Amino acid sequence: MTDLTSTPSAYTGPRRILSGIQASGALHLGNYLGALKRFVALQGEGAPVFVFVADLHAITVWQEPDKLQAQTREIAAAYLASGLDPARSVIFPQSAVPAHAELAWIFNCVARLGWLDRMTQFKEKSGKHKERASVGLYTYPVLQAADILLYKATEVPVGDDQKQHLELTRDIAAKFNTDFNAPGFFPLPEPVIQGPATRVMSLRDGQAKMSKSDPSDQSRINLTDDADAITAKIKKARTDPEALPETVEALEGRPEARNLVSIYAALADQTPAEVLARFGGQGFGAFKPALAELAVEALAPVTAEMRRLMADPAEIDRALARGAEQAAGIAEATVAEVKDLVGFWHRP
Ligand code: TYM
Repeated sequence: MTDLTSTPSAYTGPRRILSGIQASGALHLGNYLGALKRFVALQGEGAPVFVFVADLHAITVWQEPDKLQAQTREIAAAYLASGLDPARSVIFPQSAVPAHAELAWIFNCVARLGWLDRMTQFKEKSGKHKERASVGLYTYPVLQAADILLYKATEVPVGDDQKQHLELTRDIAAKFNTDFNAPGFFPLPEPVIQGPATRVMSLRDGQAKMSKSDPSDQSRINLTDDADAITAKIKKARTDPEALPETVEALEGRPEARNLVSIYAALADQTPAEVLARFGGQGFGAFKPALAELAVEALAPVTAEMRRLMADPAEIDRALARGAEQAAGIAEATVAEVKDLVGFWHRP
């Protein structure tokens, strides 16, 4: 990466919070704790919150056309069920605001090939046969930069795995501002990677991230799992034979124990130290049932509300339509300014 981002931001516009989740299937506990719960926490922070369903990003890998719309509604349902309020936050589908694709094209001409070549997520997702991956998967982080900068977002709450994409966004913003002689036009957005669960790990392997692409369903808790499934998965979660330690430092080298303690902390709005103050010295035989109970208690209302919303999607569609309109107003204004800076023709 270049060191353009070390330039202090000259941006003086208002604070705006923005994030998105891909419309590519089931949500899991990692998405909930690393993203959804964080969005809701930021909703009362005094800056507007924009959350969208990243359906343009979803199609960088194959999505069944007859399922994509339901997947989009499902993410929107998760936003609403987690506590995002369409009267206070702007909730919309990315593809309903064409400016995302428009700005992404311009950013494709700002970003350098060398920057994208360093993106680890493309390497992971394209696997051994990168020549068979879509071109969209390669330029995925450029579209993400467009998502963020269209709204001149200053803060982007995400899980730890999005850090590199945020660095690229800052590089694109800085290069655009320099190339087009527009200091402070785009902010250099800050990633907000906070809380005890920025990287929730698999329940089967403390070294692997909890992910929707893991072939083992036992590795993750889905937002659609019922109480019995959640309890069974936590009880079967891999652990070591030791009791829980008294201090956070002593979790070093115990990835599975650290993961379960972090999950507990995030669900209970506590720090890992507080969790260990209560459970230190106890074995997993005591800790796991307490964690399972807490997880069921936290997730059951969200799951139930998602089911209610999905059963009659009119409420979801109303929120998305309203959000799309609000988002488009801001996005179109940014694109008009960008086109001017780039030197495109416009109607006299
Ligand atoms: P996606 O859909 O893969 O994930 C959505 C959010 O969930 C977080 N997350 C996790 N957090 C903690 N532990 C985990 N195991 C875990 N797995 C996923 C992700 O970090 C993310 O915050 N590229 C984004 C979507 C996106 C976006 C954007 C985000 C598109 N444009 C603009 C922010 C701003 C993604 O892949 O999310």
